[in-house]
Amino acid sequence: MITAFRKTAETSQPGAKSLPQRYFVSPETFAEEQQNIFSTQWVLVGHQNHIPEAGQYFIAEVGGESLIVVRDKHEQIHGFYNVCRHRGSRLVEQKEGRLSGGIQCPYHAWTYAFNGRLLGAPHMDGAPGFNKADYSLHPVNMEIWEGFIFVNLADASTQRGGYISLAEWFAPLAGKFSHWDLPTLRSTKRIEYDVRANWKLIFENYSECYHCLGVHPELSKISPYDSAENDLTEGPFLGGFMRIVKGRSLTMSGNACALGIAVASRARDRSTSQEIENDYEHRHDGKNRVFYYSIFPNMLLSLHPDYVMVHQLQPQLPERTLILCDWFFHPDASKHSDFNPDDAIQFWDMVNRQDWHVCELSQQGISSRAYQPGPYSARESIPVAWDDYYLRQMD
Ligand code: FES
Ligand SMILES: [Fe+2]
Repeated sequence: MITAFRKTAETSQPGAKSLPQRYFVSPETFAEEQQNIFSTQWVLVGHQNHIPEAGQYFIAEVGGESLIVVRDKHEQIHGFYNVCRHRGSRLVEQKEGRLSGGIQCPYHAWTYAFNGRLLGAPHMDGAPGFNKADYSLHPVNMEIWEGFIFVNLADASTQRGGYISLAEWFAPLAGKFSHWDLPTLRSTKRIEYDVRANWKLIFENYSECYHCLGVHPELSKISPYDSAENDLTEGPFLGGFMRIVKGRSLTMSGNACALGIAVASRARDRSTSQEIENDYEHRHDGKNRVFYYSIFPNMLLSLHPDYVMVHQLQPQLPERTLILCDWFFHPDASKHSDFNPDDAIQFWDMVNRQDWHVCELSQQGISSRAYQPGPYSARESIPVAWDDYYLRQMD
């Protein structure tokens, strides 16, 4: 995808090469990743505004586990293993929806409240020593950062897997994205991509714009491929910004497709429309930037002046990754006549597919017996940093 990312003297790692073949094709390495990374770290599963009402839920697949993420009638969001406490049946099959009353097992109809408590267990009165209080659903560590829901399968009580709280994990990013008011945003559109490439190729692709001129001619006209500057250059969070040509937006038409998020938030606070009227002028003052950050291990966060795009990666197999792409807008954006989300959605759907195509070509070539790790260029410092962090998680 995007982000050129200029290699600087500090981040320079002479001689860095792409990862060896086994990291992209080996089922054993894939299983290690599921264990060492996806079962012990904070993993993105969705946004809180995806389930605004009591009983609304979605199923998250993390580390080979099926999890129910559901909102209760007190507006709290909970996460549970999708496993009945009676004889273990899968509880919920549909990927998302709204439950009324509770979570009922399809097998013998045990019913659980949205906070996981067992409410009803038909004919269990005669079972010796049975106490409903002992059979709540197994909770999963779940916390919210900037409106995004993360789960962590590590055992918090024993600190197994080096468990740390989500607030601690995201401490280096505290306040960094407040400009975008992320907790209030709503996804207008989600597209699911089934990509025949290893999940790491998606990250590596997102982290450089060396490929942009050839692969993304439309994007390169609006956002120069060599305009990137990074402010996060090592560790689990990587990225920076790229320039947007004055007066343009990352849309098919090149025009802004919605009210600027920051402006909409400030206007909402102050109940004034003056800033809204001046919005386009403000955003087209030559300082337009688009920010791209990769959040290890499965989130790509792309912050535009007028919308936010998030990719959630779900590795399926060594050579297959499901990618959920959401386009988020300010909740007030649709009240304005210039709201045209499709302009941004179509643009990024086009760019996404351009990226997935070269990722799939990479997967094909890397699978060959002829593949050997190749040298990274000076414009690929962020993929180098990403690989470096990844390898440390696999030690
Ligand atoms: S397995 Fe769920 S009620 Fe029996
Ligand atoms: Fe790209």
